[in-house]
Amino acid sequence: MPGMLVTLAMVFMLALPPKLGGKPATPRIVRVKLYAPHTGQKKIHRSKKRFRVVACGRRYGKTLLACNEIVGFALSHSNANCAWVAPWFRQSKVAYRLIRRAFAKSGNQVIVNKSDSELRLEFANGSVIQFFSAENHNNIRSEGYHFIVIDEAGDALRDPAVWFDSIRATLTDTDGQAVIIGTPKGRNLFFQLFARGEDPAFEEWESFHAPTSDNPCIPAKEIEAAKQELPEDSFVQEYLARFLEGGAGVFKGIDACIAGTLDPEYERITGHLYSIGFDPAKYQDYSVLTLIDASTKQVVGWMRINQIDYTIQLQMVADIAAKFGAHVLMDMTGVGDPLLEQLQILAGQMGFTAEGYLFTNASKKALIESLQLGIQNRDISFPDIPVLVNELRIFEYVMTKARQLSYSAPKGAHDDAVISLALAYMLAKQPRGPMAWSVDTDEFVRTNERPEFPENDPKTLMILEHLDTDLEDMEW
Ligand SMILES: Nc1ncnc2c1ncn2[C@@H]1O[C@H](COP(=O)(O)OP(=O)(O)OP(=O)(O)O)[C@@H](O)[C@H]1O
Ligand SMILES: [Mg+2]
Repeated sequence: MPGMLVTLAMVFMLALPPKLGGKPATPRIVRVKLYAPHTGQKKIHRSKKRFRVVACGRRYGKTLLACNEIVGFALSHSNANCAWVAPWFRQSKVAYRLIRRAFAKSGNQVIVNKSDSELRLEFANGSVIQFFSAENHNNIRSEGYHFIVIDEAGDALRDPAVWFDSIRATLTDTDGQAVIIGTPKGRNLFFQLFARGEDPAFEEWESFHAPTSDNPCIPAKEIEAAKQELPEDSFVQEYLARFLEGGAGVFKGIDACIAGTLDPEYERITGHLYSIGFDPAKYQDYSVLTLIDASTKQVVGWMRINQIDYTIQLQMVADIAAKFGAHVLMDMTGVGDPLLEQLQILAGQMGFTAEGYLFTNASKKALIESLQLGIQNRDISFPDIPVLVNELRIFEYVMTKARQLSYSAPKGAHDDAVISLALAYMLAKQPRGPMAWSVDTDEFVRTNERPEFPENDPKTLMILEHLDTDLEDMEW
């Protein structure tokens, strides 16, 4: 890990208890050198305020500085109880590994106990750092802490309860300190806490602000490339670290698209066409199914599945698709390919259709941009499903190593609900008719007509009745 344990900027003398079985000698002393902060990082380390709020651009060195700050606190106080909170567990793991690896060469002289599953580090002086995710913030409540880092606070504090209900009280009895650090994400609680640090009325608070360019390790040409590629508001938020009024996410106008509720008893409406987007789980993600009434572009069904055998998952998708005569579009990348084949067999047996969408950088861009327009133009609507709405809000632009613009969930967050919605919507924009028998090819084909039968239109009912009569009267 570059930076950690390198130069003399911060040195701690750690008094260790004598070795077991050894003479009751004076404690052994270990010298621990932390990293060499750049000028901006130094200012933050030097502050003596109880609550420090740090809003910096991407790649500024936030995580590295906060890792060194928390380790510095843990080493300079005996029996200190410290906590690290990141929005998602996988992000907390990154910080855990960073610190653990920094002490790998010191054997168990500095870190005497560690748990890779519980993400807990215990130091020789009795101090502990425990790593949490804001997603499960209730886990933080049970103890008092002397020092807490909240990393990626723009995402971690999206739900104010994380701070007000869980974290704040754990610092009360201990007179504990907090470093709240992140890149701005609209004007949520992170913004409000940042404002406290700029307000002399809040004496215990101090705020710091810096753009990415203040990190001397980031080449200026990388920042220039981001400026060229990113939409302006994204660059201003992510690289200049400005708190923008409505944020700078990929999807704009999400709130205006929220409508209706999910009705588990929802029944197929005669004459309407339905589309399903299915994103099967890869690794530890979730599989998500989104059912859209293509005639109204309203999400009428939504399902998130985890840790259920793929065969059962496909059967669940098939049952819903058959019930609604829906056409299914699923991610066929990687694990999706054999799953699509299985789904297509079920489709043939049960009377629906299914096809795959292969993800490349270009095809993902097309898929996301189609949903982006749909949301911006309020062409689509969906109920207030917290997982879906949250994924839409945090979905972001990223720059690939080849300096190309790409779309993704933030590191450690899920995007299955977004992908599933985007697949269903793409299909809903071009719904196919039900399967029909082709006299020309002697095969089932999909009709491309899109019959529109508004429900209570008397003309429509007459046509349907008429069709029924025709069918009954036909000689088979
Ligand atoms: N003082 C430093 N000395 C050496 N390298 C540094 C220093 N500060 C930051 N870096 C390097 O800069 C890069 C970004 O650091 P870090 O991951 O801490 O930034 P971040 O602001 O948390 O980024 P992100 O926005 O992606 O979360 C890393 O490669 C890190 O090692
Ligand atoms: Mg970081």
